[in-house]
Amino acid sequence: MDKLARRILVVNAKGGCGKTTIATNLAAIFSRKQSTMLLDYDPQGSSMRWLKQRVDDHPKVIGMRGGEGAYQPNVTRTWLMQNPDYERTVIDAPAGVAGHDLARLVHQADTILIPVQPSPIDIAASADFIRDLLLEGKVRSLNIRLGVVANRVKANTRVYQSLRRFLSTLHLPFVGVLRDTQNYMKAAEQGLGVHELTPSQVRQDVQQWQPILHWLDRKPYVEAVTNRERISAREVPAATASGGHTGATGSHYS
Ligand SMILES: Nc1ncnc2c1ncn2[C@@H]1O[C@H](COP(=O)(O)OP(=O)(O)OP(=O)(O)O)[C@@H](O)[C@H]1O
Ligand SMILES: [Mg+2]
Repeated sequence: MDKLARRILVVNAKGGCGKTTIATNLAAIFSRKQSTMLLDYDPQGSSMRWLKQRVDDHPKVIGMRGGEGAYQPNVTRTWLMQNPDYERTVIDAPAGVAGHDLARLVHQADTILIPVQPSPIDIAASADFIRDLLLEGKVRSLNIRLGVVANRVKANTRVYQSLRRFLSTLHLPFVGVLRDTQNYMKAAEQGLGVHELTPSQVRQDVQQWQPILHWLDRKPYVEAVTNRERISAREVPAATASGGHTGATGSHYS
């Protein structure tokens, strides 16, 4: 098992940008080599529906609804990172998450992926969301890595270029581009990731995941955790900083 668990939150307040698609594909990819938990915070339960379709001859993904013991308010970030039940936890966030609810989700992650569709409406909504994330979520002071994935991209359209410009002004890493393809729907219907479909049909999609996986795997993560431990140790009361998890109750934020 990895010494440090990795907890990846897939989030954007904008609905329909591909959170569940990216979360479920990531979970399917991780499950080939790592013990993997898919945590569904969306009351619509789309990730859990995906998981129900997944048959046993594919690597196992453990699913949990957010709120069924998934959020443990008195467990510190340090504890969470050092006591992984699973090597990879992928968290699927609901649309419209903001403010305190967003901060609580952020608190559970060491890495955040933000899917953005390259349309003017989506870019504007995502810009507002990213501002919210940086301010309310305090992701930079917590040293959480933040990356953007352009999803449902149709070739080199002008709007895609404007998404690139917008991200460069925020100094946010653009970690990958996923094309618009029916393969994602086909995979979702069967509880699969695209890489589990017929290889000849998904070659381009499998390739497009490589830079995203590479970014998720990068070493600086270790430094981020070390820094965060320092922050946690300063910020939490002694009783919980030592690793106790007092009265962890499930809590649904919606
Ligand atoms: N790269 C893609 N190519 C084609 N279709 C896609 C792609 N990504 C997502 N979709 C489709 O877009 C729709 C919305 O995607 P998804 O459910 O992943 O978004 P979401 O952000 O989770 O939505 P919500 O905000 O409602 O939770 C789905 O029908 C999905 O199959
Ligand atoms: Mg969803």
